[in-house]
Amino acid sequence: MTTWTPDSWRALPIQQQPSYQDQALLKQVEQQLHRYPPLVFAQETRDLHSQLGQVANGQGFLLQGGDCAESFNDFNAPKIRDTFKVLLQMAVVLTYAGGLPVVKVARMAGQYAKPRSSDLETINGVSLPSYRGDIVNSFEFTEAARQPDPNRLVTAYHHSAATLNLLRAFAQGGLADLHQVSKWNMGFVESNPLKDRYQNVAQRIQEALRFMEICGITAQNSPSIRETQLYTSHEALLLNYEEALTRRDSLTGDWYDCSAHMVWIGERTRQLDHAHLEFFRGIHNPVGVKIGPGMQPDDLIRLIDALNPDNTAGRLTLITRMGADKLADKLPALVRRVKAEGRTVVWSSDPMHGNTVKASNDYKTRDFEAILREIRNFFAVHKAEGTHAGGIHLEMTGEHVTECTGGAYGLSEHDLGKRYFTQCDPRLNADQVLELAFLIADTLSASRK
Ligand code: PEP
Ligand code: CO
Repeated sequence: MTTWTPDSWRALPIQQQPSYQDQALLKQVEQQLHRYPPLVFAQETRDLHSQLGQVANGQGFLLQGGDCAESFNDFNAPKIRDTFKVLLQMAVVLTYAGGLPVVKVARMAGQYAKPRSSDLETINGVSLPSYRGDIVNSFEFTEAARQPDPNRLVTAYHHSAATLNLLRAFAQGGLADLHQVSKWNMGFVESNPLKDRYQNVAQRIQEALRFMEICGITAQNSPSIRETQLYTSHEALLLNYEEALTRRDSLTGDWYDCSAHMVWIGERTRQLDHAHLEFFRGIHNPVGVKIGPGMQPDDLIRLIDALNPDNTAGRLTLITRMGADKLADKLPALVRRVKAEGRTVVWSSDPMHGNTVKASNDYKTRDFEAILREIRNFFAVHKAEGTHAGGIHLEMTGEHVTECTGGAYGLSEHDLGKRYFTQCDPRLNADQVLELAFLIADTLSASRK
């Protein structure tokens, strides 16, 4: 194997990159980012690594979620706060029901680059470069807006830094107090058919907190009740951006991609002999890889060996995204093989990307039932194989959008137009996310027995 350097990926074929017209400007921007401070500190990344190691060994659960694509326009405190809140609330429900620590990883503070199925988008006979996320170009369908602009890499860095700053403040500054977390967003319960079950769990959490208080464990004297740790993650698609933020840790001498705590490789860029694998093999962050229904057991072992040759627990998360029905068919052979070969990974379920459909009114959507079914099938496969269903990976928002159909409020195709804001894939809204948490809580606690 050749020597790894932060730029050794440049010698290999690469998919899904923008074609910039101004290469001189691109170079200048890369050099500028290279001088900027890292966004995360290597030690935090090692903490996440060790927590994911516990998940890999069946002693924890990974909750990863956020926007499909963050946007520069829709960049404000309430939006960040609401997604933070709903992630935390979901984590509390899962922790309580599953009896396991939940590792929280946001798809935030850097989730700006998108792989696309086609280089061009055609509307009414006009073809323009596809929208590739705000870090590359603008969503607006004009020639100028769709032109990839290197300056957007710097804007994405600053947006990520500001988002991360606020997330850290929320996590440490009181907003994450468990007393509040279990009460948020309960408004949705009022007209919900599952109201009694929800209130029961919320009440039990409040009782547990009261009991702890009587025992002297309070928010004032116990940071773990008042504070939380929320890590960040994104698809590391633009390797020039990731390379510029890759730094050698002064304590260990190891290289870390300091754009986020965890980064993952998408389903479209995980070719064994291509650039993304090369870049990822050299960074010491915990990393993820998306696994679609086409993955073969032999290739999966090769992929695992390329990314985690030392078989370290917590280094590698396999995020399966197969579709509700295909998963039951395809996942067992992969799980069996990984287990037989003694490889330690975190198995996580992305129930979103295999269940995207086009509604009759042309909206791209996902149905709540299909999402829930993929998660349940994921748990069932792991139970049958004697492995740990280690986590879920969601596209979600704290806002009250209407992008996915179904759920207790019975959103139909006709409702999609009301509040459809995503620039990319349809996200679960706050009510749907919380409902999902309660519905999979039972599955999680059953899988523990
Ligand atoms: C995504 O997570 O937004 C994504 C593009 O996923 P995948 O690579 O699984 O298609
Ligand atoms: Co997506």
